[in-house]
Amino acid sequence: MTDTHHSTAELVALARSAAQRAHARYSGFSVGCAIEAEDGSIATGSNMENACYRLGTCAEISALTSAQQAFGLDKVRRIAVAGGHIGADGTLTGAQSVTPCGGCRQAIAEAAALADHDIEIVSASGDGVTVSVSTISALLPASFSADNLDDAEK
Ligand code: THU
Repeated sequence: MTDTHHSTAELVALARSAAQRAHARYSGFSVGCAIEAEDGSIATGSNMENACYRLGTCAEISALTSAQQAFGLDKVRRIAVAGGHIGADGTLTGAQSVTPCGGCRQAIAEAAALADHDIEIVSASGDGVTVSVSTISALLPASFSADNLDDAEK
């Protein structure tokens, strides 16, 4: 069987490329996210800011929305994130790896619950040099989930 999956380096490259299409004029911090499905399909997203600052959306939410359209949240296997600033030559720069913000962790946990398995999180620096690998269960332990709603009024 042909391996349709991407290496960690390939997934980081896709996230860095997505960051080049961010709309991040207010923060100057461009983030890209690449999501790999169980069959190797890819969905990408980038942050999209707004003149009304609080309406900005994160790269991960953008990519998760795209993933839902392309193959379904229940098929999400791995997520790569990279962020920094776009240098003079148009490539993403920056030395610190980017881990998903708290809100995005909650959204990724929703996908993990639907998939019924953990999701790998690859955090990369803008320049792609520093890469660390974790899981959503490690980044967001004891998360609030649909199970907590069992006690809601029926
Ligand atoms: N941002 C993301 O897109 N993902 C993260 O995980 C961290 C932060 C964006 C939001 C905002 O547009 C910019 O980065 C600066 O916070």
